[in-house]
Amino acid sequence: MTLSRYLVALGYGTRKEAERIVRQRRVTSAAGAVLRDTDAYTHADVRVDGDPLPAPPGSVILLHKPIGYVCSLQDRPPMIYALLPETFPKRTPVMASIGRLDADTSGLLLITDDGALNHLLASPKSHVPKCYAMTVAEPLRGDEAERLATGTLMLKGETTPLRAAQFTPTGERSAEVVIHEGRYHHVRRMMAAIGHHVDTLQRMAVGPLRLGDLAVGAWRLLDAGEIETLRAAALAHKATAKTLAKGAATQQGV
Ligand code: URA
Repeated sequence: MTLSRYLVALGYGTRKEAERIVRQRRVTSAAGAVLRDTDAYTHADVRVDGDPLPAPPGSVILLHKPIGYVCSLQDRPPMIYALLPETFPKRTPVMASIGRLDADTSGLLLITDDGALNHLLASPKSHVPKCYAMTVAEPLRGDEAERLATGTLMLKGETTPLRAAQFTPTGERSAEVVIHEGRYHHVRRMMAAIGHHVDTLQRMAVGPLRLGDLAVGAWRLLDAGEIETLRAAALAHKATAKTLAKGAATQQGV
């Protein structure tokens, strides 16, 4: 692919704009040699106005989403893209969040241009565990873990029960919960179904990935090993879910 086409894919503008950037000798190697449109290049070696290219194709980004930022263009800004390089919203394929976090929820959000991985993790059939820390308005009663573990809890207006969730109290009004699916406002509605209002909610982990000590609003690229571990976890959970569904269908004589 020519350099200018590559820059278009990475969100540096239209074909014309990218060609102009190259013509203006603003694209160089790391060593400072001017690159022409037909020169050979590697992602890591290219500089535009002296800056390295962000995130090669197939990247996965781990963002510590702050409260107040939205994941969808349909919602009221600020959007998560305001926290990322300005080329990201213009990339093809697009850099999209894997699922969503509500505006009022902070924590671990993954963003990728790998459509297949996004689908694998975000599909309603994905059973990759997601861990959330929460505080609730009223003191915990002590029956929460048992009620969430039944796998029979119904949300208002839905026809299939929630999968069992693992609930661990961490204080008088705080807890961690691990869920294995992702429905709209999942944790808040699940807690409402057992009589709790969630005051604060933060996603701490998705599959093998943890938020760790990444500062609020900061992001980092996953390395190749982390991406493969994530993909393997998603595939393994999908396979287990399939086996369980097959077993249930056999038991019901379907
Ligand atoms: N559950 C919620 O209620 N909100 C989120 O953002 C994520 C999970």
